[in-house]
Amino acid sequence: MKLSNCKHMLAQAVEGRYAVPQFNINGLEWCKGVLEVCQELRSPVILGTAMAAVKSMGGYRTVVNLVNGLMDDLGITVPVALHLDHGSYDACLTCLDAGYSSVMFDGSKYPFAENLAKTCELVALCNAKDVSVEAEVGTIGSTSSGSVNVGECADPLECGEMAKTGITMLAAGIGNIHGVYPDNWAGLNWEVLAAIKAQIGTLPLTLHGGSGIPGEMLSRAIAQGVGKININTECQIAFMAGAREYFRTGRDKAEKGYFVRNLVETGVNAMKPVLREKIQLFCCEGKG
Ligand code: 13P
Repeated sequence: MKLSNCKHMLAQAVEGRYAVPQFNINGLEWCKGVLEVCQELRSPVILGTAMAAVKSMGGYRTVVNLVNGLMDDLGITVPVALHLDHGSYDACLTCLDAGYSSVMFDGSKYPFAENLAKTCELVALCNAKDVSVEAEVGTIGSTSSGSVNVGECADPLECGEMAKTGITMLAAGIGNIHGVYPDNWAGLNWEVLAAIKAQIGTLPLTLHGGSGIPGEMLSRAIAQGVGKININTECQIAFMAGAREYFRTGRDKAEKGYFVRNLVETGVNAMKPVLREKIQLFCCEGKG
């Protein structure tokens, strides 16, 4: 199977009131584990690659070849998009050359007019290669080293402007945060979400920072027009718990316990229940 872009995948999701998972990948075995679970549950999937993760995996062409090779070798038949996550303008151009099927241009650090203009340019370039585009308006918060930056909710009128550029999907800050949510998190802002939806019509919304958001909130977000939900942190935490257990139970000291692939496989296997749970929660099982 060839890589798919996100256009058809997300249009179908919004119409059918479900969300396609974006699982970020962090290495070969990780990617293999995600593809295996998605094939098992017949779920379409968007493989998210953050710029730092791509660097750690070797580069954009390596990632394209890795994903294409795994899809062939594993006989993957569900739709798979390879997507740049929070890309710079230049990284989007590199992905177009390397063979990505989808990119996110994160212009949220620019003044809105500049974000809009750069997104417009990229949409034209991506359309020529049938590559889908995600844009961002407002900012998505983050947690790191215990400190929380709550981000800035998107301006619905700016979202409406952005929707006219021909993008495939829109990431809008609605109180969501990348990483682990603090105990006093205020939740998603439903008023802002409804106001954005009123401006963008049927354009699919994407929800970043999906890890740790309670299931009922995710279902409500899907009902209000979210067609893609990004998950990374929960997978990383599950992988690490599996790896920790490997050492805690002394498996590293057992016969051939020093085989690194046994450790990595343990981490990936610990992550698989999270993947299955999200696919089922997003009602995406059987849609691929
Ligand atoms: P989490 O790491 O919080 O799941 O967010 C992932 C994400 O939104 C990637 O863009």
